[in-house]
Amino acid sequence: MERRTQNIFPEYGRSSEEILADMQVAKSNDTAWKEGKTWTLQYFIDEEHNELLKAAQNLYFSENYINPFLFKSILKMEKEVVAMTADLLHGDENAVGSMTSGGTESILLAMYTCREWARKHRPSIKAPEIVAPRTIHPAFDKAAHYFGFSLCKAKVYDNMEANVDALERLITQNTILLAASAPSFAHGILDPIPAIGQLAEKHGLLFHVDACVGGFMLPWVERLGKKLPEWDFRVPFVTSMSCDLHKFGFAAKGASIVLYKNTQLFENQIFINTEYSGGIFATSSMLGTRPGGTIAAAWAGLQHLGQAGYLKNAREMLAGFDQLRAGIELTPELQIIGEPCMNMLAFFTKNNQPDIYAVADFMEEKGWVVDRQQLPPSIHLTVFPYNIPVIPNYLADLKAAVAWAKAHPEASGEGNAALYGLMARIPLRGMVRDNVRKVFLEAYANNITGETSGIAAQKPTTQKWMGWLNRLLARWKN
Ligand SMILES: Cc1ncc(COP(=O)(O)O)c(C=O)c1O
Repeated sequence: MERRTQNIFPEYGRSSEEILADMQVAKSNDTAWKEGKTWTLQYFIDEEHNELLKAAQNLYFSENYINPFLFKSILKMEKEVVAMTADLLHGDENAVGSMTSGGTESILLAMYTCREWARKHRPSIKAPEIVAPRTIHPAFDKAAHYFGFSLCKAKVYDNMEANVDALERLITQNTILLAASAPSFAHGILDPIPAIGQLAEKHGLLFHVDACVGGFMLPWVERLGKKLPEWDFRVPFVTSMSCDLHKFGFAAKGASIVLYKNTQLFENQIFINTEYSGGIFATSSMLGTRPGGTIAAAWAGLQHLGQAGYLKNAREMLAGFDQLRAGIELTPELQIIGEPCMNMLAFFTKNNQPDIYAVADFMEEKGWVVDRQQLPPSIHLTVFPYNIPVIPNYLADLKAAVAWAKAHPEASGEGNAALYGLMARIPLRGMVRDNVRKVFLEAYANNITGETSGIAAQKPTTQKWMGWLNRLLARWKN
């Protein structure tokens, strides 16, 4: 069979100018998040900070940090970034850890490390279990899936906070670890870490706090005067934490920290193969070849902002958040879920009147990028610096969206509202799972049609996704 790559992998090299011009054209079709209409995922302060991150990353662009002993300057930066983060999270002089490529890798490593620790210290456990509230990030499901754990998920309260009694009921002789969020991504809700710490002590369990999104925000929230229950290594029975630099640490993408209370735990993270024909092989994290640039950029970012810079940015984002929150609270049909602890929240419509997904559709028509959630159906918002100028416009459109959805109850049975509603309610989760897999397989299928521009033309994934949802809806209705 003939492969259709003739226009994609050029026979001869092209000029840098031509390549970059093509990429600029392709990129112009992506989400224009800097306009402020996107309320999730894009952690960014300003161009000046970004230029420094790029320069620092470029300085180490070619270095392969697989061997930390070859690049002592990178090792020094990594250790300093870990130490600064450990201080921020109140680790004591025994706290140790490493940088990773992101929150998911930090969580995977922490779960792997705990499993290895338990193999040594609790060898009778053959089928290890993690107990966590159901709001825990899917990276824990991934870790359970990859490393052969059962992840037992406990009910949460209506305000989305972990229910400690429900967690305790799931603890068995096979449980090795409790996990909780500081805070959860979906709703910005801080789990009761001190009470879960006591549970860990009572049952002799390890306890991981996932501060991927909160680790570089909650310290400033507290310094700005908000009273929060302790959520980090101040709680004595917290044994490990994950904390992302590429979120509110405002580092380049690909930077997170996994931290342990002491070396006795951390030592289990180090992978060593003494029999490899290429020589003794050892790594401190999951990757083999490892970019030095992301470590350099994270270090430079921390130096550039300093604690005062983080505090200033946090103050501004929180002021924006208060304005957004007050506007939502003024709309009687809307309700914010629980008590958000930082600049992120989720809201829904009371008794789903009007349908929150119909509200979402209206907002999308107005050009907002809407983060729809399920269980319960809700909309997620995080306030970043670039969102602040557009908050009044967002609130005005939101008010209009609620009024429109109330006047058009039929909208919940149409378009995206119907599809998302169905996705949230459909009981056959296996069917949803199979179809999501198909959508991914299609997205990655070898069906690229080369274009003269050299940028591969593909049908957008969302279009395929919506096509699948439509087919599913049709089947479900019949
Ligand atoms: C609480 C929490 N944990 C884990 C993760 C996973 O992080 P990453 O996407 O960097 O892998 C996220 C990402 O948003 C998060 O918010």
